[in-house]
Amino acid sequence: MISFLLSGDNPEIAIAEILSLAEAYGRLKGYWTDERILTIDFEGEEFFHRVAFSHEAIELHRICKTSELENVFSDIKVNGSFCVRVSGIGLKSDSNLEKRLGAILLKKGGHVDLQNPDTLVRVYLTKKNCYVGFLKFKQDKKQFLQRRPDKRPFFMPVVILPKLAKALVNLTSVKNGKILDPMCGTGSFLIEAGLMGLEIYGMDYYEDIAKGCKENLNFMKLNGEVLRGDVRDMPFKDNSFDGIVTDYPYFRATRKSRNEDLYERSLLEIKRVLKKGCRAVIVTNIELKDFPMEVVYRLSQRVHGSLTRRIYVLRKT
Ligand SMILES: C[S@@+](CC[C@H](N)C(=O)[O-])C[C@H]1O[C@@H](n2cnc3c(N)ncnc32)[C@H](O)[C@@H]1O
Repeated sequence: MISFLLSGDNPEIAIAEILSLAEAYGRLKGYWTDERILTIDFEGEEFFHRVAFSHEAIELHRICKTSELENVFSDIKVNGSFCVRVSGIGLKSDSNLEKRLGAILLKKGGHVDLQNPDTLVRVYLTKKNCYVGFLKFKQDKKQFLQRRPDKRPFFMPVVILPKLAKALVNLTSVKNGKILDPMCGTGSFLIEAGLMGLEIYGMDYYEDIAKGCKENLNFMKLNGEVLRGDVRDMPFKDNSFDGIVTDYPYFRATRKSRNEDLYERSLLEIKRVLKKGCRAVIVTNIELKDFPMEVVYRLSQRVHGSLTRRIYVLRKT
């Protein structure tokens, strides 16, 4: 079993991301959450490199009460160097606990290395439980800063930031295959999908934006096709893509525009070009009710006072 320490900025997206990846990489037998800890009973290939919205993951050794911690530690076998790290999730942890638990392992023959241990024994304390396990994954937060959109040759102010873009690509639940963003703008989704090794296809209504997106892909040393086209009438065959992820232009819900048929027609097109059983992740600032596909998740993320992104994960049945 694996427990993830979810990122605090949007636990709903974090949970949906892990469950979507678990489905893509193997078989999810069950899961539960406790504060910001998500534990999955999972059989399959490891997918830590894909995760965006979790800070860490541990291979779970035991779940226990605080009073049982010292007993649990006397069962742990460590070879070589080790380090114990304890964090309270939503509560303060006793600062001596790490030392006390470390001393138990020390007596059993291991030696302490705080910088680069062979085994990092990790404890998460929630109000109800202690999760004891071995650290398997720590998020590389620098990657998202290194890929900041304003460092790319082509920039637009509406870009989706890399961490969210990566998570939204993951919500498609695609491990390998073809990903399409039919309103690609600067290419935030395509860049994240390309870095995951997926085959990327982009399209935008405006020639200069499609060109700018291609420049950004070249800048990131990614191969991908980007063309000019209208999401309401796409130049792709039926059932072509394993996943679609796209961000609609931000309109005011009340304003009549020449794009008023955009949602209705594009959603039917998205359904047409998506393979059966596959997912489309739709981002918009408008609350949508009716979809021509099954709704797997309805999520949201507040950007600022007047902009909340609605995220719909749809499945073609
Ligand atoms: C919100 S932006 C996408 C931003 C993108 N996710 C990024 O991070 O750069 C929406 C994009 O949809 C494009 N667009 C608007 N109407 C379209 C249509 N009918 N067909 C294709 N693209 C369209 C716009 O040109 C714009 O680039």
